[in-house]
Amino acid sequence: MNHKPDTPRRIPVLWGGRLEERPGAEAFAFQASIGVDGRLAMEDIEGSRAHAAMLAKQGVIPPETAAALDGELRRIGEELAAGTLALDPEAEDIHSFIEGLLTERLGDSGRMVHAGRSRNDQIAVDLRLYIKRAISLLRGELAETLGTLLDTAEDHLDTIMPGYTHLQRAQPVTLAYHLSAWACALNRDRDRLWDALERLDECPLGSGALAGSTLPLDRDLTARTLGFKRPTLNAMDSVADRDFALECAGALSILMVHLSRFCEDISLWAGEEFNFIRLAESWSTGSSIMPQKKNPDFAELIRGKAGRTTGNLVSLLTLLKGLPYAYNKDLQEDKEALFDSIDTALTCLRMFRGMISSAAFNRERMKAACTGGFLEATDAAEYLVRKGMPFRRAHETAALLVRDCIAAGQKSIGQRTLEELRGRSELFDGDLYALLDPVSSVQRRKLPGGPAPEEVRRQIRELRKLLGRRPGGSP
Ligand code: ARG
Repeated sequence: MNHKPDTPRRIPVLWGGRLEERPGAEAFAFQASIGVDGRLAMEDIEGSRAHAAMLAKQGVIPPETAAALDGELRRIGEELAAGTLALDPEAEDIHSFIEGLLTERLGDSGRMVHAGRSRNDQIAVDLRLYIKRAISLLRGELAETLGTLLDTAEDHLDTIMPGYTHLQRAQPVTLAYHLSAWACALNRDRDRLWDALERLDECPLGSGALAGSTLPLDRDLTARTLGFKRPTLNAMDSVADRDFALECAGALSILMVHLSRFCEDISLWAGEEFNFIRLAESWSTGSSIMPQKKNPDFAELIRGKAGRTTGNLVSLLTLLKGLPYAYNKDLQEDKEALFDSIDTALTCLRMFRGMISSAAFNRERMKAACTGGFLEATDAAEYLVRKGMPFRRAHETAALLVRDCIAAGQKSIGQRTLEELRGRSELFDGDLYALLDPVSSVQRRKLPGGPAPEEVRRQIRELRKLLGRRPGGSP
């Protein structure tokens, strides 16, 4: 392939004065980013409007120039939104595209907008504005998903099912309890996004390339205009770091790991071996060869997508590692990974919600799975502890009872006669039998955090309260 610069480019570049020769078409396309940062158009326009108004107020550009810039920037935004103006795929990036249009339409006024600004602080502003919006959307989707989980949980406060450790049946719980556990995790994901938002809510505009400007910029004014809490403290930090993007990608990769675990449970439950859940037909797919199949593809795909968000986080970390201060073009690579994590999380939350809200749970199967696996063994041990036996001895006694049952071909401790039980400990009485029932076991686990229906109702209430406190993205 010929790597010599080929045809000179039609579209002007912002740095045209310095270089006599331009990269060829392929090389230019390689370093261009409009295909990715084009989605920051509205944020770029917003940042430029705030910057132009501030320049006029500070006497750097004439007020009528600022007015013309403002009108044209607004028009460009409207045209893009209406689809009457398309992004030019040959522009270098979104900043060049919009500044190029301003110059084309306004002449010298367009050439004034970049005073005291660099694309380095410009992209940092655009990205922070974009993430602020994305976090607001994500928190909204999370709130909806939490709502769905809590509604479903409320319908299943008394739906007994086995709780698992090591994927072995462990102790009886309820479906409401299991779903509330998921909800707690999603609630923290929502909080993590809030924390990220709190820290990134500072405006880099006025940082210039890396060392601010000699022009009398008012950074407080642009920060305020753009809805940031304050300007960033140090201009070099503002253009060099992307930890705000990392925090967002990190929070999203944790969220996706959570969703992937929930989906693993769902995939297991949907199988014939568990048969705990019946996914709606519209949230399942079939097999191209096996006519009988109804597959939990949505759950599997959400589980798989967690690989992307983990990969995106690793990409971002790797991108930043060892990067010398301040700006380097490497940073241009941050957006694709971050945008993909945002898109993936938003879609997966919606898909997960649709799948859960349309699913039916098989109460009988769940309850039946609580007998036969000696899930009552801990209850028997705690019975003995209440009667004064040291726990380690009680544990051993209950374990021996389990062995007795297995040897006798019995499925539960309740099948032993009182005499047989007394053979293991004199402390056993007839009142034990009622306590071995899974329903009773769950009802008596009413400590804070436990699975008893009244306690789970409290947990759900608590989670709903937290949801109400910070709806969507607002404090
Ligand atoms: N497209 C660039 C990016 O995303 C914008 C900043 C370019 N700055 C520069 N000095 N080349 O990082």
